[in-house]
Amino acid sequence: MKLPFGHKALTIAGFCIAIFAAQAFVPQHHEEPQNLKVLPKNISEEELHNVMRNYSMSLGVRCNYCHESQKVEGQERPKFDFASDKKEEKETARDMMRMTENINKKYMSSIQNGTLKPVTCVTCHNGHAHPINSVDSLKKQ
Ligand code: HEC
Ligand code: HEC
Repeated sequence: MKLPFGHKALTIAGFCIAIFAAQAFVPQHHEEPQNLKVLPKNISEEELHNVMRNYSMSLGVRCNYCHESQKVEGQERPKFDFASDKKEEKETARDMMRMTENINKKYMSSIQNGTLKPVTCVTCHNGHAHPINSVDSLKKQ
């Protein structure tokens, strides 16, 4: 069969259509963060999500522990307003971020010439929103 275009042209055209089609299925690009006061404003979306997943795991909570959310009728996933500062836990988390940075900058970096691992959320929280703060809770019942 004789084709009106060369194979190369067809391959290129097919490739372009494939890219165009693929793009139609890529989810809409997320909005830039609107309300970062502690994290760097130019943080990538991927890194922001890694940080947030890390906080959630460190405290053993889900996103809605710190973020304003509303239940949508008939849907399992609530609707989030991540930029909102309505929840006190979010502001506390900001203070905790600053505190953790200070602990590392002021103290950890000078102990054993800064060779120790830095303190992170999980160091204290260990998977709980409220860290153990009394040795009594470690005593065998
Ligand atoms: C322990 C509290 C905490 C948890 C849990 C948490 N976040 Fe956050 N999140 C914050 C804080 C605090 C900020 C603001 C950081 C700042 O001011 O630099 C933030 C900011 C954000 C932002 C940027 C919003 C904007 O427009 O400024 C997004 C998006 C976000 N979080 C998503 C998530 C997702 C998704 C989860 C669950 C996987 C999650 N967060 C879990 C505390 C939390
Ligand atoms: C040096 C230990 C320590 C570190 C590090 C630490 N926290 Fe905390 N955090 C605490 C203590 C202690 C409390 C108070 C718990 C209580 O009163 O029961 C607390 C409370 C909180 C609360 C409030 C819980 C509530 O329901 O009121 C949030 C949110 C929180 N931390 C987030 C974080 C995040 C996010 C990080 C890491 C950026 C972090 N914390 C790092 C010790 C720590």
